[in-house]
Amino acid sequence: MYTVPKIADYSPETLDRAAAEAVAAFHAEQKAALEAAKNPDMGMVERGNAMRAFRDRWVARKNGVLTQINELWLKRCPGESKRNVGQKANYLRAIISAGVEDAERDANFYLLAAPDVLRKLATNDASALGAADGRLAFERLDISLPGIHRPIGVKHPVLRVMDEIVAVFKAMGYSVGEGPEVETDYYNFESLNFPPNHPARDTQDTLFIAGQESKPARDRLMLRTHTSPVQIRTMEQQPPPVRIVIPGKVHRNDPLDATHSPVFHQVEGLAVDTNITFCDLKGTLDHAMKALFGSSVKTRFYPSFFPFTEPSADMQVSCIFCGGKGCRKCKFSGWIELLGCGMVDPNVFDFVKHNGYDSSKISGFAFGMGVERITMLKYEVEEIQLFYEGDVRFLEQFA
Ligand code: PHE
Repeated sequence: MYTVPKIADYSPETLDRAAAEAVAAFHAEQKAALEAAKNPDMGMVERGNAMRAFRDRWVARKNGVLTQINELWLKRCPGESKRNVGQKANYLRAIISAGVEDAERDANFYLLAAPDVLRKLATNDASALGAADGRLAFERLDISLPGIHRPIGVKHPVLRVMDEIVAVFKAMGYSVGEGPEVETDYYNFESLNFPPNHPARDTQDTLFIAGQESKPARDRLMLRTHTSPVQIRTMEQQPPPVRIVIPGKVHRNDPLDATHSPVFHQVEGLAVDTNITFCDLKGTLDHAMKALFGSSVKTRFYPSFFPFTEPSADMQVSCIFCGGKGCRKCKFSGWIELLGCGMVDPNVFDFVKHNGYDSSKISGFAFGMGVERITMLKYEVEEIQLFYEGDVRFLEQFA
């Protein structure tokens, strides 16, 4: 059986010879493994094992021939031959891994065949098989074998919570809207009362589409930094009253850490009507938090700033881990900050005045919440990245 030789001199000729020997040995063993796979005198399991042993011998990470080539040739060669040896090793890796896959594919074809079929094939007696017979024989199904388990997927936890939030507001009579993820400066910033060059824009930096310098600033495209642009889009589409929630994906130039991701999800809310007050905002959000986290949760509203709401607030919930007593999770404050909200700024209504939004007659409130954040609290997930890695061991826990 082939063993990877140590190479004394790394001249191109020596390398070529060593590589050629490896390939020849590989092909010989590949042939032998395939022969075993269709050997009518061996049982099915044994034939499968022969194939697996062949695979392990050549491509197993631990001590397969390819690994040994890395260890004995690549790692030990002098610096000036690294490039050459690396190329040879890559070439061998390509040939050998493709060859193993080919052999396995061919072997699969034979592995389930009954001994009499294999015997006829071995004697190369195609006529003895007969075309129809042969097909039937190959397609014969052994119903005593275990079936193939195909797990059914479930909704991703972030989408699940997003739907749950939306459902809470639907039950209060809200409708559901959506807007584009690639947004103009006008909708993402200007009409939300972020004046051009205003420093508040820096708090929501994002990716801009390149090469738009010739366009007026308000038409330039970017990835939206929040779902709030859909507030204006909605009010352009329909006169008051409005009650709408807007789930969606948003983007920010935030470095990835345990609780931040440059791409995440929000649910926005907007209610506009005659006589809407801050009390309505508080009552609505307090009810929503009780629906999401349980009836014992409390809310409080802390002064904050957003250009598009006045007054603005951060809503906090009593810590769902310690019930408000104070713990590590709430930094011993008893409260957890959860979303931004406020009364719609009259300057925002002015952008849609033509559609019936006269700030002397109507008023409204808006709020925006991060879905990942709420999901992390609800399910005690401590790393936001777990949501995006697609590791089934994590996702399965939500099934
Ligand atoms: N859009 C704000 C954000 O992303 C949240 C918000 C929405 C604040 C609506 C007030 C009103 O931070």
